[in-house]
Amino acid sequence: MNYNKKTIRDIDVSGKKILLRCDFNVPHDKKTGVIHDDTRIVATLPTIRYLLEHNAAVILLSHMGRPHGEWKPELSLFSARDHLEKLLGIPVPLTQDVLGPDTKEKCRNLQPGQVVLVENLRFRLEEEKNDPEFSKELASLADIFVFDAFGAAHRAHASTEGVSHYLPSVAGLLVEKELRFMGGALDNPKRPLVAILGGAKVSDKIGVINNLLQKADAIIIGGGMSYTFQAAQGGKIGTSLLDESHVEYAREMIQKAKELGVDLLLPVDNVVTPEFSADAPAEVVSSQDIPDDRMGMDIGPETIQLFQKAIENAGTVIWNGPMGVFEFPAFAVGTKAIAKSLSQLKDAVTIVGGGDSVSALEQTGFADQISHISTGGGASLEFLEGLALPGIACLADK
Ligand code: 3PG
Repeated sequence: MNYNKKTIRDIDVSGKKILLRCDFNVPHDKKTGVIHDDTRIVATLPTIRYLLEHNAAVILLSHMGRPHGEWKPELSLFSARDHLEKLLGIPVPLTQDVLGPDTKEKCRNLQPGQVVLVENLRFRLEEEKNDPEFSKELASLADIFVFDAFGAAHRAHASTEGVSHYLPSVAGLLVEKELRFMGGALDNPKRPLVAILGGAKVSDKIGVINNLLQKADAIIIGGGMSYTFQAAQGGKIGTSLLDESHVEYAREMIQKAKELGVDLLLPVDNVVTPEFSADAPAEVVSSQDIPDDRMGMDIGPETIQLFQKAIENAGTVIWNGPMGVFEFPAFAVGTKAIAKSLSQLKDAVTIVGGGDSVSALEQTGFADQISHISTGGGASLEFLEGLALPGIACLADK
């Protein structure tokens, strides 16, 4: 995929109406609307401010949750609107319909320097169906389409891809930054490139491992998925998470890494417990010899050292997925140690993506020492897989 896309800096936006697709799909309390993590909203402020300062009128578009065409009040964008008003310091009217008379009137009357937020697009079924008529109608509200919803870039929906067929379409500043860091890491990384992959499921990371084996100098595997690799090496993994259907795949990947000269690092010791609970008694054992009645909850101290050594020399690090059950403080040690190692790299480019590793990183307080934290969950995984993301592929090339 070509990552070199035109952005709002490459076009004249003055006096224009801009359809700005954001991803305000943020974790929030369904009853009170209180937002638990506003990262995605804050990340789009530079684009919104740039457009307003350059005399554009901004029509904000987003989805929230998966209402599948039903009007669900608990998935209204009102809390995002309230939050945006505070952050921007200007009124942000929210439409009472999606592309109905209220949306049309509010957009028609919109003046340069003003914003309006259209209610959750997924309240209309046509959005996810990427319906051409719906896309055309959306496009008729504005002069230019700006895509800044990196988190939804892997969706070919009306407001992420469909609308680009009817309007000049460019990237916002958030998408520009995501492409610069993530695209740079894949296409032309400062070497060595070290990828750290964790999380529970091997199946989530198959495409990523396949692609990164062609690009990285070292791949570190920890977290729930590592036990399947440990089993593939012939180790005993007790009652640890095992994805039996992927043991053979893991074996092939270990072999492929050898053939390609990529260092594939797996845990050498694990913190194990008799049961899955926050205060279960823990001990450290060899990763090849986990007792039959014990399950792995975290990487052990020797593994931390091994992984840190690989990270120390990196020119670029991409991290996706925690190293253990970090939701339980006793088993967050490995994940925190990795976060700390990344934060201590002075000249390396460090990139963290995926909801879990980002929230783990935020808990450690090292987030501001990371070069780039991706706002994409599924989107950043698909990006690392090397797939073309419809929301980005449709934008004008530079
Ligand atoms: C996300 O949270 O990953 C994006 O907002 C996309 O949401 P979706 O998986 O419901 O399409």
